Amino acid sequence: MTKEAADVFHKVAVFSDLIEGEGKVVFAGVKRVAIFLSEGNLYCIQNNCPHAGGHLGIGSVQGCIVKCPRHDWGFDFQAGDCKSDPRYKVKRYEIKREGDDVFVGLPDDKSSDPPDFF
Ligand code: FES
Repeated sequence: MTKEAADVFHKVAVFSDLIEGEGKVVFAGVKRVAIFLSEGNLYCIQNNCPHAGGHLGIGSVQGCIVKCPRHDWGFDFQAGDCKSDPRYKVKRYEIKREGDDVFVGLPDDKSSDPPDFF
């Protein structure tokens, strides 16, 4: 039986600094992720676009879709689906607010995702 790694939560942002309808690139530990505030709800996905590495956190947002700034592919940050090519998905991560602090949970599995330094 394989035991799944528990999430470790990292403080990534201050809620009052976030802008409704926009994304932001933040570090959760050593991993860069993209967070979004949409209709008062928080979402978190991987920052690197699975197509060719664009930074999804700086893409334009319409509803729950972020458009990659490199080639304009759309990704649903609620479901993780790619609207431009269904073969692609993005990882979603748990995100929560405690007071004015925003936390993202990443699996405490050091082998699954390498650090994201660039
Ligand atoms: S790198 Fe994101 S659509 Fe190409």
